[in-house]
Amino acid sequence: MSSNIVWHGSSVSKKERQNKNGHKSFVLWFTGLSGSGKSTLANALTRELFEDGKAVYVLDGDNIRHGLNKDLGFGAADRKENIRRIGETAKLFVDAGVITAAAFISPYQEDRENVRNLLEEDEFIEVYVKCRLETCEKRDPKGLYKKARDGHITNFTGVDSPYEEPSDPEITIETDNHSIEQSITLIKTHLKEKGLL
Ligand code: PPS
Repeated sequence: MSSNIVWHGSSVSKKERQNKNGHKSFVLWFTGLSGSGKSTLANALTRELFEDGKAVYVLDGDNIRHGLNKDLGFGAADRKENIRRIGETAKLFVDAGVITAAAFISPYQEDRENVRNLLEEDEFIEVYVKCRLETCEKRDPKGLYKKARDGHITNFTGVDSPYEEPSDPEITIETDNHSIEQSITLIKTHLKEKGLL
């Protein structure tokens, strides 16, 4: 970074924005295999919170890779950069007073921890969307596992690219066993217990 760049403070603080919105702002970071249910859960929860009058937004892997991160692929270095940029983006959303649901495979523990460290305590809630590879592969909503098994996609998470399970996530949802409604209840219960909702 150039030494000629100087940080400008904002005329409206995060606290003021949160007060206006009537709630705290934080990131719910959904991590898990492709097809585990990250986007489904992030969107269903966001819909409920929106109906309840909250300021909410979803940052989603496929969508961000259409724009902001369309220059990135799926090698380890690009995935790292992908998550770094999303982390910075999520931090801006939190600063804007928004409850932000981020749904990214984010396969590397270190990259997720880097995002956690960008934020204040209680602003980063890691939600491990846990689902057996076998189930994800059976769901295969976009036909990507089949393409990966047939050798038409390389570096596919769970097939020929690793997924590091979170070691101490705030919330674990087993989408093999939990319905969407049960999962959302689990997340909302956690947020209420933490005084975030
Ligand atoms: S990462 O690992 O966090 O950088 O990935 P992310 O930005 O979340 O993007 C994952 C979506 O990209 C599609 N896709 C792939 N996923 C994994 N590995 C490979 N090689 C790949 N190629 C394309 C896929 O649709 C992922 O979306 P989800 O919703 O996870 O299925």
